Amino acid sequence: MAQLWGGRFTKETEKSVYDFNASIRFDKALIDQDIEGSVAHVVMLEKQGVLTLEEKDAIVKGLTSIRNEVSEGKLVITDEYEDIHSFVEAKLIEMIGDAGKKMHTGRSRNDQVALDMRMYVREHVAVTADNVADLLFTLNDIMEKNTDTYMPGFTHLQKAQPTTLSHHMGAYFEMFKRDYTRLTDAYERMNYCPLGAGAFAGTTYPLDRNYTSSMLGFEGPTLNSMDSVSDRDYCIEALSALSMIMMHLSRFSEEIIIWNSNEYRFVEIDDGYSTGSSIMPQKKNPDIAELVRGKTGRVYGALVSLLTTMKGLPLAYNKDMQEDKEVTFDALKTVNDCLGLFNGMLRTIRFNKDIMQRSAVRGFTNATDAADYLVLKGVPFRDAHGIIGRIVVHCIENDRSIDDLSIDELKNFSEYFETDVYDAISLKTCVEKRLTLGAPGPEAIKEELKRNKEFLDKIKRGDMKNE
Ligand code: ARG
Repeated sequence: MAQLWGGRFTKETEKSVYDFNASIRFDKALIDQDIEGSVAHVVMLEKQGVLTLEEKDAIVKGLTSIRNEVSEGKLVITDEYEDIHSFVEAKLIEMIGDAGKKMHTGRSRNDQVALDMRMYVREHVAVTADNVADLLFTLNDIMEKNTDTYMPGFTHLQKAQPTTLSHHMGAYFEMFKRDYTRLTDAYERMNYCPLGAGAFAGTTYPLDRNYTSSMLGFEGPTLNSMDSVSDRDYCIEALSALSMIMMHLSRFSEEIIIWNSNEYRFVEIDDGYSTGSSIMPQKKNPDIAELVRGKTGRVYGALVSLLTTMKGLPLAYNKDMQEDKEVTFDALKTVNDCLGLFNGMLRTIRFNKDIMQRSAVRGFTNATDAADYLVLKGVPFRDAHGIIGRIVVHCIENDRSIDDLSIDELKNFSEYFETDVYDAISLKTCVEKRLTLGAPGPEAIKEELKRNKEFLDKIKRGDMKNE
């Protein structure tokens, strides 16, 4: 057991207490951030005259070798250290001697861990935003290629009105676009540096917080030292944005699973992205979509877990906050894995356009348009709704569709029907007439694709900021 704080104690910590308290098992993931933060800290200490040039050089050199040796596997991070901060400091002292003992001057593990965590979350949130961007490019490709791929749109999972695949994918484009901006927005708000806050009340050393902040690529230092060490809002904001992404991926997965079912057959998932059954040879299962849907729970769990951890904490640092790590690390990894795999599945999926189109003409998806036709001929909408309703009942009883009925049959329900009805309620007309902003009609979709392109161009320019 290698501890940083033995001086005050006359007795060894119980082994079980030590293990319960230790975080090295998971916070070793912060090694790079920890070393980068320490380098910035000591460079600043030297600039401010707190360390000599030789001491600073020795510490930076030592820290660099620790980083290299760990990444090459020559130095193993073991459980005998309490946390990653203790590990790095102990190894540094072993390596360079007394100068290493000066690294922690004017710093506390409280501001150190706050810094490491911010850097980790910041970096991974940027990766998540890139992954969401990749998905947006895939969705936009599918949209461009399918402006006239007709399919039924559903409400209550019942066929409702015809639409296009482009329009359907466009709905997901909007969701993931919001997710993207939520991430960039959270990124901007978290990009402030807590280093220099000390235990919670700053220090008496002449630290230059602006200097370390800009060395570490932050927008500026955090403004209240007590808040700096006790704030985990940025983790919660990130987890909330991640939960929303999972909710969207899960809804999308559910649709893929339905569309892939034997009854629908709207899509065929590529062999590379599906799995088989150990007993039923005919099976090709949508496991990726099911796992993505299934993993949504653990990401929500992370959000609720951290919200709950934080809700009773008095200022400033409390050990409860060590619980931020496992859930946040796990959620970030889960979401990034899910985005990557889902995107791969979507990029390779085949849409059975004929089946989709055939499905769109059945199921009375043109009933609204048939009512609208009568309205154009002068029938009040409520009456038209009733007439078409009666026609639908008649069709169901006789296994027909509306456009299947002869003009004489139609006239039995309303004298307002003329032969132009067939064109008015054809699948093509039903879709093409829908030109309201945001609707599936060709002109409306063209505008939507134009707006998508503007958004994607902004991403390509590397513009993480929101305007
Ligand atoms: N392992 C701790 C954490 O993750 C580091 C901070 C420890 N600070 C303290 N005052 N005990 O939160």
